[in-house]
Amino acid sequence: MEKNIVWQNTKVDLADRENILKQKGCILWFTGLSGSGKSTVAAELEKKLNAENYFTYLLDGDNIRHGLNSDLSFSQEERKENIRRIGEVACLFKDSGLITLLSFISPYRKDRDVVRKKAGEGRFVEIFVECPLEVCEERDVKGLYKMAREGKIKDFTGINAPYEKPEAPEISLNTDQMSLEECVTCIWTHLKEQKIIPDRTV
Ligand code: ADX
Repeated sequence: MEKNIVWQNTKVDLADRENILKQKGCILWFTGLSGSGKSTVAAELEKKLNAENYFTYLLDGDNIRHGLNSDLSFSQEERKENIRRIGEVACLFKDSGLITLLSFISPYRKDRDVVRKKAGEGRFVEIFVECPLEVCEERDVKGLYKMAREGKIKDFTGINAPYEKPEAPEISLNTDQMSLEECVTCIWTHLKEQKIIPDRTV
């Protein structure tokens, strides 16, 4: 396909925006099995960031699949497209200076790594929400594991579709052993250390 498009430069960049926001634009990428606790931890962390006057936005797989990505299935190819699109959105949000939280199973390492590369050095924090399949299945908050075991859902992650663990995530959380508060504190400490959330008075 011939494209005939030329990149347009703008006059305000990320550094200008960060200067106003007093925070570092970044992507906090939560990955893990369904029921592992990704959305719970992400929502609690966002609440804490907001309470401390940081600008955030949380993109959640289940919600995005109701809108932007409602045309996509759970085949490997369409999950790849799910992550590609949301990765693009995340990079735009990050460029706007937001602390962007994403909660997606994102089972394929390659797909996650594409976003990591695009986000740039120090701008992508991979948070592996690690929880044994048996525990996720026991929790079965949405009743989907039961349906998958009964053969009513095909390509269900952990049952009849793969999950590729991150090889070197910035953060790993064992949600079957750690409390919600411990998980949030662990990420908070990392964000402070990396100066993603600098100390500030306002
Ligand atoms: S991803 O694999 O493409 O990253 P995503 O995070 O967007 O998945 O959506 C996962 C959510 O969709 C799950 O939390 C679950 O509620 C629901 N879901 C429905 N069908 C499936 C399936 N086959 N595999 C995994 N999750 C599914």
